[in-house]
Parts: sequence; structure tokens; C-alpha cells
Amino acid sequence: MTASALTGSHAFWITSRAAGIAALILASASVGVGASISGRLVRGRGPDLRVTHEALSVAALAALVLHAAALLGDSYFHPSIAALTIPFVSSYRAPFMALGIIAGWGMVIFGLSYYLRERIGVARWKLLHRFTAVAWILGVIHTLGEGTDAGRAWFLVMTVLAVGPPLVVVLARMRGSAGAGRRRATASAGSS
Ligand code: HEM
Repeated sequence: MTASALTGSHAFWITSRAAGIAALILASASVGVGASISGRLVRGRGPDLRVTHEALSVAALAALVLHAAALLGDSYFHPSIAALTIPFVSSYRAPFMALGIIAGWGMVIFGLSYYLRERIGVARWKLLHRFTAVAWILGVIHTLGEGTDAGRAWFLVMTVLAVGPPLVVVLARMRGSAGAGRRRATASAGSS
């Protein structure tokens, strides 16, 4: 990499890619920690992990904003704000770009719903907040479909290491909820 490449408009492109990678790692860690708390997979350290989960989420959202905003400075792509915030306005690498935008909004809305939980009710918030995991999965699909580095071995290894463990925790959490639902249904059928 030459010094001029780093000081020119290319620096915005590199910054966006680096921030995208940071967003992916931080969001994956946040989802993993969040699912461990809600699935009670780790016992006795709830309050500490809640702070970790919140810090990882805020850092992921900051990286995400930088990932999208840095593209505004790229003179080759030169997107408008609408192209970066409204799905399918840009035809660049569609549909993966649109998936990234939907994932980004999902992470912002379902993630920040935490700060509205008193207002919307904790039960309703918990239901809503689960969709953060769906937004994260869309972000992973966007990453693999759109990233310049997506075909490279280091990138794939990094993605598997970042995404694999939280995915296992989320699947374990879903199995746990389905099992609890079945047990509740059997108990209420038995008592009627
Ligand atoms: C407003 C929403 C988003 C926009 C506009 C956007 C845009 C882009 C663009 C244009 C690229 C291609 C860069 C390249 O060719 O390498 C890209 C790649 C990437 N994006 Fe996004 N993205 C968004 C959301 C997300 C989300 C939610 C994540 C993950 C949590 C993410 C993670 C990544 C990663 C890891 C790459 C690959 C970087 C690389 O190849 O080095 N993006 N994104």
C-alpha cells in the first residue's frame, strides 16, 4: 500500500471495509453474550455480562455507522445518503447491499429498543429484541455476498471464528425456548 493510496479517497474505502469487519466481530460477540444471558447458559454473572453486552452493542453500532458513512468519501463509488440508507436505491452489488442496509436498520432499531423497554413493556421488548439476531444473520449474508475480501481464506476463517460460536449459542437458546414451550403446553393439557 502506497502513502498516496492511504491519504487519497481510497482511504475512505479501506476505512469502510475495516469498520465493516469491526462491526461484524463486535455484533457477533454481542449476540453471543446476549443469547448466553437470556438463555441462562452462564449462571451468577448476569449483571457483569449485561454491561459487556451493552458495551459490545454500542461499539458495533458505532462501527456500523462508520462503515456506511466512510463510503460517502469514496470518489469511485460516490453514493448518495439515500443509496446508503434505503434498500435497492443503489444497484451496486444488489441484493447484498440492500441486505446490509436492512441488517443495519434492524441492528439499530432492535438493538436500541433496549432503551425503550420501560415504555413498550419488558415482555414486548424481549420479543422485539430477539429480532436483533435475525438482523445479525442478514449482516453475515451481506458480508459474504458483498465483501471484497469474502473469497480470501483469512477472511473466511475470521468470519467462521467470529460467527460460529454465537450461532451455536443462539441455536441452543432457540432449542431451549422450544423445549420450554412444549413443557408448558404439556403441563396445561395435563391440568385441564
Ligand atoms: C447501512 C448499512 C450497510 C451498508 C451501506 C454497507 C455497505 C457495504 C459495502 C458497499 C461493502 C463492500 C465493500 C467491499 O467491497 O469490500 C460492504 C462490505 C462489508 N460489510 Fe457492509 N454495509 C452495511 C451494513 C453492514 C452490516 C450490518 C455488517 C455486519 C454487521 C456489515 C459488514 C460488512 C463486512 C464485514 C464487509 C466486508 C469488508 C471487506 O471485504 O473487507 N455491513 N458493506
